[in-house]
Amino acid sequence: MKIVIVGASGTVGSAVTALLAQDHQVIRVGHRQGDALVDMTDSASIAALFDGIGRFDALVVASGNVAFAPFPEMTDEQWQTGLESKLMGQIRLTRAAIPHLNDGGSITLISGILSEEPINWGVSASTINGAIEHFVRAAACELPRGLRINVVSPTVLTESMDKYADFFPGFVPVPAARVAQAYKKSVLGVQSGQVFRVNG
Ligand SMILES: NC(=O)c1ccc[n+]([C@@H]2O[C@H](COP(=O)([O-])OP(=O)(O)OC[C@H]3O[C@@H](n4cnc5c(N)ncnc54)[C@H](OP(=O)(O)O)[C@@H]3O)[C@@H](O)[C@H]2O)c1
Repeated sequence: MKIVIVGASGTVGSAVTALLAQDHQVIRVGHRQGDALVDMTDSASIAALFDGIGRFDALVVASGNVAFAPFPEMTDEQWQTGLESKLMGQIRLTRAAIPHLNDGGSITLISGILSEEPINWGVSASTINGAIEHFVRAAACELPRGLRINVVSPTVLTESMDKYADFFPGFVPVPAARVAQAYKKSVLGVQSGQVFRVNG
């Protein structure tokens, strides 16, 4: 299988890449590093990425930024970060991938536990993650040619606890390798329109 992984260098993406590269051809895509580069906030950049790669069997996304800040003080610009990057970035990638995916191919996006369990300063992340999960459920109904789409929703990663521990009191982290298994289930399995939650 030929698998395009956007965010391949990241904490989530590097574990997904390590797992899927064991048995498949992976194209590592990043913003500043990788086999190919893309800016998921820019439709022209995404079109150029897929034109350069040719046909493939699976799109995997493990990237997308959101701003963390106290809700009463969040600016439009901070809201726009999550909307443009994590939400519309993944929607753009999904839409642009459709004509390049082989029949029966798949798309796997990322949300996160904040869609279900809010934390302090996490209102944008909760909103964006919830929207991504709703998008996947609806888009699955309209994809042509047997294409599938799912979203992986992890809790905080063990590897990210040095950065995020104070924001996730009482949350049990999971290793990135476990999150990678949820991506594998999405890419190699048969389900569509699903949220694969990975909780501690
Ligand atoms: N870490 C966690 O605990 C956790 C838990 C749940 C959900 N998530 C979600 O998982 C996703 C990835 O998180 P992470 O911690 O793995 O992030 P990360 O380590 O910071 O990695 C981010 C990845 O995204 C790429 N990227 C950055 N800007 C981009 C752009 N404009 N266009 C395309 N790619 C871009 C980076 O590429 P370059 O290296 O080339 O710049 C990098 O590969 C995020 O949406 C996050 O909310 C993370």
